[in-house]
Amino acid sequence: MGRLIVTGGAGFLGAGFVHHVIRHTDHHVTVLDALTYAGNRASLDGLPADRVAFVHGDITDAPLVDSLVSRADAVVHYAAESHNDLSLANPRPFVDTNVTGTFTLLEASRTHDVRFHHVSTDEVFGDLGEGSDAPAFTEDSPYRPSSPYSATKAASDMLVRAWIRSFGLRATISNCTNSYGPYQHVEKFIPRQITQVVRGERPKLYGSGSHVRDWIHADDHSAAVLAILERGRIGETYLIGADCERTNREVIERILALMGQPSDAYDHVADRPGHDHRYAIDASKLREELGWMPRHSDFDEGLSATIDWYRTHESWWSAAKDSAEKFYAAREGAGFPADTM
Ligand code: NAD
Ligand code: DAU
Repeated sequence: MGRLIVTGGAGFLGAGFVHHVIRHTDHHVTVLDALTYAGNRASLDGLPADRVAFVHGDITDAPLVDSLVSRADAVVHYAAESHNDLSLANPRPFVDTNVTGTFTLLEASRTHDVRFHHVSTDEVFGDLGEGSDAPAFTEDSPYRPSSPYSATKAASDMLVRAWIRSFGLRATISNCTNSYGPYQHVEKFIPRQITQVVRGERPKLYGSGSHVRDWIHADDHSAAVLAILERGRIGETYLIGADCERTNREVIERILALMGQPSDAYDHVADRPGHDHRYAIDASKLREELGWMPRHSDFDEGLSATIDWYRTHESWWSAAKDSAEKFYAAREGAGFPADTM
């Protein structure tokens, strides 16, 4: 393998993957990242300069992408517009980055016959329905994306599948559940609630809070992507998940408890339009074929460590928190449907 390009390597999961690769392999990494509001170079601090290079650029910039890919052995594609709430407010960047950006990377990888791994989401399958005990998603579940974000991720998965079949691209896809851990942008659910409490504000729960997410620690997600990159069968899709379903209400109550607050010290706010009710992943294929297992299986322990990280890294998140909360306040002001609360 040797020389990897990691797109979106200054984001939450991309940065976590780069740290993981440097710890566990001999690969050299070139990060390609546009440093949007979601990217933070400080997430790559402390990595060895002789093994990690940083290129500030856009994945839709075809000449730049072609030149970088021509010198690489593999592309691991994390870069995306990743937040559902923003995709409801302004979908265009999601189409540009998630669809056109993926297309640009695929074309360069095909031209130079470079191994490609596409990091995607369980949200491409839509949701499992309210109060549902429907079995978890598998690699054969139909695509039924709900939001502009998940629709653009579904589109990018389809492009990858077409490039595999039509052009013989040496590619794999992974679809993972909700990830958490250090370096996650404070617009997202878990870090938003932790940083609310750190700032003396109340956590915010959308709607009734009965929505279910299937949580995985970011390190376990990284280990799975590396296993697929190195040992996955070309052309295959692997689902990644750690069997950790929780309602959003349960997660907020655990955060409050772990931070020494009363369990009801949060606010219900208006629900997200089109809000997917439940996601759950069956990761048997990944476990059985590649022997991958989650190492952070104690959710309370993972949450506590994540809380500690945000408590001790306020300078990393403080400015992003101010702008994320401005967005949420403006959205509330614009009258998201309060009757769904
Ligand atoms: P993130 O928003 O934290 O980071 C995205 C990164 O991509 C940022 O560094 C940003 O600067 C960069 N980027 C955005 N547009 C770009 C462009 N046009 N060119 C170059 N760089 C650009 O996202 P994340 O949560 O780390 O998610 C990373 C990937 O993992 C995404 O593809 C997402 O769909 C997927 N995923 C995320 C989760 C999750 O729970 N976070 C779960 C499953 C899959
Ligand atoms: O399932 C994988 C996906 O997980 C990834 O593809 C996305 O990139 C990632 O953002 C995440 O999507 P979600 O929409 O599930 O994550 P988010 O953190 O935005 O919200 C998690 C749940 O918490 C969701 O049901 C909405 C709810 N929520 C969110 C916020 C920000 C709240 O109740 N309150 C909040 O303040």
